[in-house]
Amino acid sequence: MILVTGGCGYIGSHTVVELLKNNYEVIVIDNFSNSKRDVLDKIKTITNKDFKFYEGNVCDKNTLKTVFENNKIDGVIHFAGFKAVGESVEKPLMYYRNNLDSTLTLLEVMSDYNCKKIVFSSSATVYGEAKETRFVETMKKGIPSNPYGKTKNVIEDILEDLYTSDPTWSITMLRYFNPVGSHTSGLIGDDPSGIPNNLMPYILRVAIGELECLTIFGNDYDTPDGTCIRDYIHVVDLALGHIKALEQLFNLESGIKIYNLGSGRGISVTEIVTTFERVNNLKLNYKYGSRRKGDLPSICADPTLALKELGWKCEKTLDDMCRDAYNFIQKQRN
Ligand code: UFG
Repeated sequence: MILVTGGCGYIGSHTVVELLKNNYEVIVIDNFSNSKRDVLDKIKTITNKDFKFYEGNVCDKNTLKTVFENNKIDGVIHFAGFKAVGESVEKPLMYYRNNLDSTLTLLEVMSDYNCKKIVFSSSATVYGEAKETRFVETMKKGIPSNPYGKTKNVIEDILEDLYTSDPTWSITMLRYFNPVGSHTSGLIGDDPSGIPNNLMPYILRVAIGELECLTIFGNDYDTPDGTCIRDYIHVVDLALGHIKALEQLFNLESGIKIYNLGSGRGISVTEIVTTFERVNNLKLNYKYGSRRKGDLPSICADPTLALKELGWKCEKTLDDMCRDAYNFIQKQRN
């Protein structure tokens, strides 16, 4: 049985769908701090399968103990955490408290119940302001520019230290690049509350007329079209990466692994905008503005290791990402 913390969130819900499709027994714990309750039914509709759900906070040790006491949990995928970069700068204590407390509590309870297999939801942000534009796992980690990123960095360190102290653990850290898109059903996806910070959710709000205009943050970068380059990955590909990581976790005796999950192809902001317009046959209202503080010009994954060791690579295209994301927001608003 696999416990998924934060299983109602954007990446969590897509991963639960793929777990159920792959016949895993799943338990989700979520407190809906940044997700909606109806996601539970939507996952069931998509998969035609049921799973156990606990409403609660991963920081709450008693709730976690109940989950482990009443279920035979073989492994955990840990998504639960705050993730808004800007908000983390405003509220660092809240971010450190929540993201670290939840992880420490989870690891302590896992230890108590002798469950020592975990996949952790990390981020390309741990590479910090590296000079390289193509990130490979063997690179030294950097210093992320914001508290959110720093929590990912510290949690990776905690997991390393835990493994050093007790090599019977099996730990996999997955460093995500920029997840976008939605399940093809259009039932689940990324629809944050408030004004979105991330590019694709912002584009979606402009496309359906809820926001007036997209500002492209800077067109004077040293990149081919002057706008920032990122490695966008379809969330379903990302979810499948977790299934592969889990399979490996159960095949290996123990170990600690790190994998980049990205496509290896850099895409500029302008390319996303023009692809979105073409694929969905619409015009987006956008303008060029000044650079956003903290943005790096170009970030791209070297996904070679994930292909070699997990047999995983991105299958979906930028067209798929744009089409599926727009399908989701339309269904969501109808
Ligand atoms: N962008 C715009 N306009 C917007 C929003 C974004 O031009 O309204 C641009 C940004 O400048 C950037 C690109 O779109 O060049 C992507 O921005 P996002 O905010 O979507 O994503 P980031 O690359 O800044 O950050 C993402 C995740 C973080 C993670 C990081 C790791 O949101 O959680 O990747 O590299 F830490």
